Amino acid sequence: MVNSKSIQDYIRTIPDFPHEGIMFRDVTTLFNDARGFRMAVDMLLHPFAGQPIDRVAGLEARGFILGGAVAHQLGIGFIPIRKAGKLPHDRIAQDYQLEYGQATVEIHTDSIQAGESVLIVDDLLATGGTAEAGIKLIERLGGKVAGCAFVVDLPELGGRQRLEAMGVDVHALTA
Ligand code: PRP
Ligand code: ADE
Repeated sequence: MVNSKSIQDYIRTIPDFPHEGIMFRDVTTLFNDARGFRMAVDMLLHPFAGQPIDRVAGLEARGFILGGAVAHQLGIGFIPIRKAGKLPHDRIAQDYQLEYGQATVEIHTDSIQAGESVLIVDDLLATGGTAEAGIKLIERLGGKVAGCAFVVDLPELGGRQRLEAMGVDVHALTA
């Protein structure tokens, strides 16, 4: 039988997690399905076909799962952009606001050579605060952001406009 499930069909929504009023998009069900996961990785890469990309950066934590697979598929290196206090070597930090809270992300200073082109990957774009912080970290190290690739965009939270205003190419598989 032909499987016609879309990316959206593999994602479940959990109301009121982790706080009342948040409709949490749970992508673990997408990652858990071999076809869904492969389709997501292929689709994340598609808009960037033929573009020179030197490295993939993933945003903790779900961006590590997708970004690692994307980097493997492209045959290039992976950079973890981590929550504060997790990276062991020399690093720079960037504060940002979340849909539900405040946080800081960090990157190793030796993870990018000046002029390199970096594709940012994450599961979900909400306010864009996390991705904006990631873009700033990459640019502060002299890297160029090739674009941002997300599985889910929550358009009502304005993340796409926020990133596009920074001159960054934004692609999402589903809203
Ligand atoms: C989620 C999601 C994105 C971010 C999107 O991560 O995976 O990274 O929020 O929100 P924003 O566009 O408003 O910044 P979260 O901070 O919940 O971390 P986790 O992946 O470690 O659970
Ligand atoms: N990160 C920020 N908002 C989110 C949401 N609604 N679902 C999953 N992850 C999120």
